[in-house]
Amino acid sequence: MAKIKSVYVCQECGYENPKWMGKCPECNKWNSMVEEIREAKTTSTPVNSLTTLTGNASVPKSIGNIKSGEKERIDTGVKELNRVLGGGLVKGSLTLISGAPGIGKSTLLLQTAYNISKNSGKVLYISGEESEEQIKIRGDRLGVKSEELFIVSETNMDIIEEHINNLSPAFVIIDSIQTVFKSSVASAPGSVSQVRECSNIIMRLGKKENIPFFIVAHVTKQGELAGPRVLEHMVDTVLSFEGERTEEFRILRTMKNRFGTTSEIGVFEMSEEGLVEISNPSMIFLEETNFEVEGSVVIGIIEGSRPMLVEIQALVSETKSPMPRRTSVGVDHARVNLILAVLEKKLKIPFYNCDVYINVVGGLNIEGTLGDLGLAIALVSSIKGKVSKYEKIAIVGELGLTGEIRPISFCDRIINEAEKMGFKNIVIPYRNSLKCKRNNINIIGVSSLKECILKIFS
Ligand code: TYD
Ligand code: MG
Repeated sequence: MAKIKSVYVCQECGYENPKWMGKCPECNKWNSMVEEIREAKTTSTPVNSLTTLTGNASVPKSIGNIKSGEKERIDTGVKELNRVLGGGLVKGSLTLISGAPGIGKSTLLLQTAYNISKNSGKVLYISGEESEEQIKIRGDRLGVKSEELFIVSETNMDIIEEHINNLSPAFVIIDSIQTVFKSSVASAPGSVSQVRECSNIIMRLGKKENIPFFIVAHVTKQGELAGPRVLEHMVDTVLSFEGERTEEFRILRTMKNRFGTTSEIGVFEMSEEGLVEISNPSMIFLEETNFEVEGSVVIGIIEGSRPMLVEIQALVSETKSPMPRRTSVGVDHARVNLILAVLEKKLKIPFYNCDVYINVVGGLNIEGTLGDLGLAIALVSSIKGKVSKYEKIAIVGELGLTGEIRPISFCDRIINEAEKMGFKNIVIPYRNSLKCKRNNINIIGVSSLKECILKIFS
């Protein structure tokens, strides 16, 4: 009989130790070690199947003889999802979708499952969280009606495997990985060992049968993936579904993608009939923008391959507190501090006695530096109580520590987007402006922050 042993496993990173420890020496997390019972002989995967992902015996081949890596892709019927995946769903790939509860993961996947079942064959939706009836109610709400879409409420991995073998679906969804379990592993569903074992089985199944899998994973309160980091390493693609529950916009972001870039985003709106794709986000983000108010500036950014215009708002108010507040939503804190320092040092505008609040409208998170200049202008506009003398103006540019405006890449694309959105004026770095000639939009080239302020405020 196999010997039973107990190990303590860090639920964060998967580190194992025979004794309990208060702090994991691997990831330094406190209180994350949990006891898991395991039979000594059951290693998490049989060695022979690890060596061969596709189930065939592995043979080393010369790289010249291996068929090109471009894999066949399935159209998910959701353009924004196709874009985020890098042009559709790759056959045999394993995709992880994470997000806070209630954000709309199950809704998005049910809609995707329906679309794929209409065009590409059988789809199996396995839910460990909801009953078949509950999914049916959601399906009715979304107008899902398909003979090819199969729903099963199941958590036992052995039975799931059997269902997949019997049905031979073209696409499988598992909602969620934290609820499924393998009976030979003694620990509870959601524990590191279970998640690792089940993901391994799913991965092998997918690669062997060439079936794409989507698995749902929960996130912790801090927004990190619940459970082990190992999961992220194992899968091909990690998508994160974000947004405020109270706001209707949802943003699908790629965190990792073996088949495309990681900088693409997809934008959705949660409606009564499920998630609706938003192919022109600028329009939505600028819907309620009032160009006549202090502290509001429209900036141009590039998200993935897509230019986008968003409104950024700054509110600067005097305070007597010795520790003024610096609050920013949608912009990196360090970036805001850097821009404030440049404004104080180079333009002699004092912020030390002011609370500063920054907000990006629409719940978008701005990464990169294209919005720097716009943010600086929003701060100046708020503290001085001034509005740009140009109507319908957008601003784009990277700010250097000496107050200089650096040239940016993809400036053309942002100008095109601004033109399309009916903007009359756009501020861009001087060096970029030398190469841009437009008829329908007035281009204002600036080489320093000071020059920009002099030019746009009357
Ligand atoms: P759900 O997909 O169950 O979220 P998750 O799987 O990420 O936990 O979505 C739940 C929320 O979405 C719920 O609060 C209701 C809302 N919703 C709509 O607004 N419209 C719809 O058509 C559907 C199906 C859900
Ligand atoms: Mg769900």
